[in-house]
Amino acid sequence: MGLKILGVASSMRESSYSTRVLKLTLEKAKKDAETNLLDLRELQLPMYRPEQNSSPELDKVTEYVKWADAFVLASPDYHGSMSGVMKNFLDFFWSDFAGKTFGYICASHEKGLTVMDQMRTAVRQCYGWSMPYGISVNSDQDFDKQGNITNENILSRIETIARDLVVYGDLIAGQYKKDLQSKEPNTFAAHYR
Ligand SMILES: Cc1cc2nc3c(=O)[nH]c(=O)nc-3n(C[C@H](O)[C@H](O)[C@H](O)COP(=O)(O)O)c2cc1C
Repeated sequence: MGLKILGVASSMRESSYSTRVLKLTLEKAKKDAETNLLDLRELQLPMYRPEQNSSPELDKVTEYVKWADAFVLASPDYHGSMSGVMKNFLDFFWSDFAGKTFGYICASHEKGLTVMDQMRTAVRQCYGWSMPYGISVNSDQDFDKQGNITNENILSRIETIARDLVVYGDLIAGQYKKDLQSKEPNTFAAHYR
């Protein structure tokens, strides 16, 4: 069985650039991994409320999150931060992110570094492992009018992140599963046994 990668799209725009890049990344990863896409624009996850944490949408999302060994989070740059639906999605989960590897995509006019860093911070709080780089795309500088990517560097970066996520995601997931099963006390995985 290959690594299981979940792509999470979080733009509210119909022809979203970040969602488009996410789909291409999953497409590339597919030759060595199983992939699924969760589009938060379509899914309409309710707002996180600790007292009301049951809905068909949440059940579906939870199933996907538990299934995944690795994630690609894709967000537009909204005020230098991730989209509200992405933050809301992250708020529902803690231990399910531990020992899993995360890659990042952002559509921004300003490189989206703060957006990716904020997603990394949330993931780190949940003991997820983040890729040290991400993909940043900038609307009509990187796409033509039909929405095709025109920037060769972006195309190459998509190949790179898809490859690295499979390789490093697999190593981390494999070690995490071993550590969960061992009795060794001083590993971060011991906390999740
Ligand atoms: C509420 C809102 C806030 C935004 N804030 C920023 C911003 O701070 N910096 C920026 O570069 N772009 C900002 N944008 C523009 C979007 O990031 C940009 O259009 C991006 O391409 C949208 O990604 P998408 O195509 O995946 O939806 C903002 C857009 C919206 C709707």
